[in-house]
Amino acid sequence: MVFLAEDVLNKLRLFGTVEIETARFTLRRFQMSDAGDIYANWLSDEDSAKYNAWKVHSSIEVTKEYLSEWINSYKNKDYLHWAVEDKATKEVIGSVSVANIKKKKRCCEVGYTIAKKLWNQGIATEVLIRVLNYLTQEAGFEKVCALHDIRNEASGRVMEKAGMKFVKNKIQIFLNSNNIIMKCRLYEFKRNVPNLEGHTSLN
Ligand SMILES: CC(C)(COP(=O)(O)OP(=O)(O)OC[C@H]1O[C@@H](n2cnc3c(N)ncnc32)[C@H](O)[C@@H]1OP(=O)(O)O)[C@@H](O)C(=O)NCCC(=O)NCCS
Repeated sequence: MVFLAEDVLNKLRLFGTVEIETARFTLRRFQMSDAGDIYANWLSDEDSAKYNAWKVHSSIEVTKEYLSEWINSYKNKDYLHWAVEDKATKEVIGSVSVANIKKKKRCCEVGYTIAKKLWNQGIATEVLIRVLNYLTQEAGFEKVCALHDIRNEASGRVMEKAGMKFVKNKIQIFLNSNNIIMKCRLYEFKRNVPNLEGHTSLN
């Protein structure tokens, strides 16, 4: 079978959550043995939940229930949800997830969390850069969006440092999480497409 370059460039290539890495971290699937790290590092932490649509877990048992759902979802090719594992310590210190995949428009939304004890060490930025690269260059997304509560300035800073561009302010309503209404900033990252002369240009 012959593939035209254009066909390859214009198709989503979703293989589920595949392992990728950065200099300091491995991004891999969650496993049941991660429950302790996940609970201790962010799902039990009020500050981590503060500007987000999720509530802290009341016990590690709740985390285990969520975790087993995530693991079950790995059978789906469009389920992208990475554990961020520190290469040096093997601890799971964060997560990155992809939501709102629009296959025809080839766009999606990304979200991330890093353990509070490790904030401001460039970790979210390092991980987001790799994930944006994976989603646009390997999985074939045309555009990746991200939203942050306007009070969550650290998250906006991460988006900017990772090369995302501010689009607009937006009101976001989460009907399935106690009807939260959030004033957000919307950012996006567009795919860099190689042109026929071998140079690269922004779409
Ligand atoms: C947002 C979050 C992921 C950032 O992770 P991180 O690993 O600390 O991010 P980085 O170290 O890569 O970058 C943080 C940047 O924000 C800046 N920052 C931190 N607190 C800030 C604040 N209150 N106001 C403005 N900037 C701030 C840091 O100085 C740094 O920028 P710099 O490198 O220019 O100095 C982390 O705080 C987190 O997990 N929060 C809880 C979950 C969450 O809100 N996720 C985002 C959902 S949209």
